[in-house]
Amino acid sequence: MEIPFNKPYLTGREKIYVEDALQSRELSGDGYYTEKVSSFLENRFSLDKVFMTTSCTHALEMAADLIEIKEGDEVIMPSFTFPSTANAVISRGAKPVFAEIKKCTFNIDPLDIEKRITEKTKAIIPVHYAGVGCEMDAILNLAEKYRLYIIEDAAQGVNASYKDKYLGGIGDFGCYSFHNSKNYLSGEGGALVINNSSSYIKKRAEIIREKGTNRASFLRGEVDKYTWVDIGSSYLPSDLLMAVLYAQLEEMDNIKNIRKKIFEKYQKSLKRFVQSPFLDSISFIPEDRDSNYHIFYLKFNNKKTRDYVIAKLQNKGIYGTFHYIPLHSSPMGKKLGYKAENLDLTMDVGSTILRLPIYPDLSDEESTYIIKNITEVFKEL
Ligand SMILES: Cc1ncc(COP(=O)(O)O)c(C=O)c1O
Repeated sequence: MEIPFNKPYLTGREKIYVEDALQSRELSGDGYYTEKVSSFLENRFSLDKVFMTTSCTHALEMAADLIEIKEGDEVIMPSFTFPSTANAVISRGAKPVFAEIKKCTFNIDPLDIEKRITEKTKAIIPVHYAGVGCEMDAILNLAEKYRLYIIEDAAQGVNASYKDKYLGGIGDFGCYSFHNSKNYLSGEGGALVINNSSSYIKKRAEIIREKGTNRASFLRGEVDKYTWVDIGSSYLPSDLLMAVLYAQLEEMDNIKNIRKKIFEKYQKSLKRFVQSPFLDSISFIPEDRDSNYHIFYLKFNNKKTRDYVIAKLQNKGIYGTFHYIPLHSSPMGKKLGYKAENLDLTMDVGSTILRLPIYPDLSDEESTYIIKNITEVFKEL
């Protein structure tokens, strides 16, 4: 058997909607399907305003511009994340300050955030790792106490919730990803969610997203010509991509339920090994959170064991994988002058985590095969 780490799932309706979009010949941004997906997300997740973007990376950059992150500012985020979280800050001349994660979820630790707040801190970027929400009540309290913005990096958090709120809809801004590797995909794609902000911020977002022009106002007939009015870039996705995404969002709950079944099967079969000296933990969802089952992971007691299990599974055609190289310890992190930064758990998790295949096309036979082989490797440890 050959089981890849990920197999992007298609519902079957993507082709119909893409053909429909092609027929219309309106392939640029903000066409029929872009409107369909943004209102779908607003309605389903009770969000104030959603702007579809070309990626989560770009949604993060837009949020950084909207709160005017600039040289001299500091932004607190985990080091256990994807480079885009930090790039949005670095590219605006500001400094990412990395905070430690928590053992139970690998999400940013609010107690450690508070220790790292200074007069320069402007925002916090909590990253909802694996589709499980961060401790948002504590983070919202810090934001209120120190008057900070919150930009949720919900790249992995679409259709998951914390208490009664959907991820991405809790902080000032939320950033989603619809990359090919995510639960709901358009190849490349993302969205910026704007929560409870002034109409000025929403209007400015519209302009920044449209190359710094007031084209959207022009299309609504509010101005008689459009022109350059602000900074901006080309953050609009083609309507073709949004046609793909609409087919995915229509099947949102079905996709989540299939992933949940696989997640629970792994959890049920593997949790007994957590008592063993070689396995520290497996994926965990706190009771006050609903996951979208984006990732299922195993955390080993050391790198050698983790790498041994990866290699053994590969020999059986099972492609589990690791991540992240903590940003502060990456080549770019070192170039920027980061040292150890008191991030022991982050470093440990980065070198001991293994993610298992989890996607709707993973058959029952395949997940049984994965569990059987893991159990066999564990017997050798
Ligand atoms: C936590 C996190 N943030 C940001 C991104 C970037 O998303 P995109 O590929 O949509 O730009 C990713 C992508 O994997 C991610 O995992």
